[in-house]
Amino acid sequence: MSRTVQIAPSILSADFLNLERDVHLIEKADPQPGWLHVDVMDGHFVPNLTIGPPIVKALKAVTEIPLDVHLMIDNPATQLDWYLEAGASLVTIHVESHTAALANAFSTNTLVKSTRPVLRKGTSHVVGILPPAQVEELASLLARIRAAGVLAGLALNPNTPTTVLEPLVGLFDVAMVMAVHPGFAGQSFIASSADKVASLAAMRMAARGKLGAEAGSFLIEVDGGIDTTTTPSVVKAGADIIVAGKSVFGAPDPLEAYARLYQVILT
Ligand code: DX5
Ligand code: ZN
Repeated sequence: MSRTVQIAPSILSADFLNLERDVHLIEKADPQPGWLHVDVMDGHFVPNLTIGPPIVKALKAVTEIPLDVHLMIDNPATQLDWYLEAGASLVTIHVESHTAALANAFSTNTLVKSTRPVLRKGTSHVVGILPPAQVEELASLLARIRAAGVLAGLALNPNTPTTVLEPLVGLFDVAMVMAVHPGFAGQSFIASSADKVASLAAMRMAARGKLGAEAGSFLIEVDGGIDTTTTPSVVKAGADIIVAGKSVFGAPDPLEAYARLYQVILT
């Protein structure tokens, strides 16, 4: 495989009490990881709560590996700057994130405007069609990320179709396919995620013809359930970055596990 595929180890499966030790360990991997994946969860967008800006800032101070900050949060407009200032190199927001634009578009009844289903592990929000106001909102968030000199990513939950990204092609640098319902490490890979990667690869190819090389050069990232058995399908489908939590930091020997995963990419 001549294409470069990068592994982004996810610190969600690292030892939070020894984060610096684990980060310095994975820095020794060869090749060094292209990204360190940092999962930010707010307890609203996903049914779990993890870390915030102080930890991102602390990580930035101890590693040269670029930080890939995955925001699983509602109302990203109010918190985006925290992560841009903390030292992220890539910030990814979800198309399903609750925003005023989304709430207004889905309801004319002010009493139910803020109502969203309560999530449990193994479920996640979904958007079938992006209302124009949400497209505008996401476009402005992506522009804010890029204006800070940071790469801008857009993530899709498992049940959200790739077509929602069409009106935003050219405005993001990374499209992320969630291959598990977000919120937890160590869940099973959803097999249909490889088809979503393939459809994003086709969207990227089409954009090259219609909108030019820059719009058609976004990277495809896959997050969730990545290990040596699931990697071949997503790499074959066109993934450029694979996030690995349990299969790297959750392994008894993370460096050996990383090396095995990298070998699978090469074959
Ligand atoms: C899940 C997170 C993932 C998580 C993946 O919501 O977004 O980044 O770390 O963990 P694994 O690789 O164990 O599925
Ligand atoms: Zn993630």
